[in-house]
Amino acid sequence: GDDILSVAHEYDVDLEGACEGSIACSTCHIILEEDTFDRLEEPGDDENDMLDMAFGLTDTSRLGCQVK
Ligand code: FES
Repeated sequence: GDDILSVAHEYDVDLEGACEGSIACSTCHIILEEDTFDRLEEPGDDENDMLDMAFGLTDTSRLGCQVK
């Protein structure tokens, strides 16, 4: 895929992603710059539900596996 999680893995960035992008974990939690966050489509309900469980949630948090 071309989501941030896949790209991170390609470049050996240490981002976990335990569920491989099926929105069943929050280990791919990333915190974006506000500019970047604003440019993206809104997170879906599934993503928001998972994000609520992410450690250190911020206003510009996303699940890395859902961000293209
Ligand atoms: Fe599990 Fe992203 S890898 S929600």
